[in-house]
Amino acid sequence: MTQQHLTVITHPLVQHKLTIMRQKDVSTAGFRRLLREISLLLAYEVTRELEVTTMTIETPLCSMQAPTLEGKKLALISILRAGNGLLDGILELIPSARVGFVGLYRDPQTLTPVEYYCKVPNMLDQRMTIVVDPMLATGNSSVAAIDMLKQRGARNLRFLCLLAAPEGVARMAESHPDVPIFTAALDERLDDHGYIVPGLGDAGDRMFGTK
Ligand code: URA
Repeated sequence: MTQQHLTVITHPLVQHKLTIMRQKDVSTAGFRRLLREISLLLAYEVTRELEVTTMTIETPLCSMQAPTLEGKKLALISILRAGNGLLDGILELIPSARVGFVGLYRDPQTLTPVEYYCKVPNMLDQRMTIVVDPMLATGNSSVAAIDMLKQRGARNLRFLCLLAAPEGVARMAESHPDVPIFTAALDERLDDHGYIVPGLGDAGDRMFGTK
């Protein structure tokens, strides 16, 4: 695994918010609020290489050529359902981004991910495509989602999560070494049920209040 492949976002605000989110007694509302806040901070890092163009604007003193985002060049892809928690915050920062959704379930026999939904923006080959899912655990669904996006033309991809397990990072590095991963923390390991340890539990359940 190259260092370039994995970026751990160590900003103190990110780490502070993550520590609160990990705690088991945080309410659903608190967890959701923190996830929205932390997604803004993570978005700052994962979008660092977004394309900018210039536009002519009038300041009170004169006109100038000023930088502006090529917003339509960005696609955000949420892996359902937990990805939506990260997506909402990023969309507040970049409202012009195009948005797609990928749904996968695990086949109980083969334990492999099976596609049940995929609706993504067109011209993915021309967009920076950021895939969001809070937990990179085994990496099976992330790898499958990125396979699907590459089949639909995506080339310039990034993967953004809140927590990553070494197993998931290794799986991604093996299958998609061209896709950099951005995370707030690299945790110790997976447990026998595929949960990240120490982790924060089931991200979907915690953000939606289900069990
Ligand atoms: N998905 C989660 O929500 N939590 C984990 O720890 C692993 C996968």
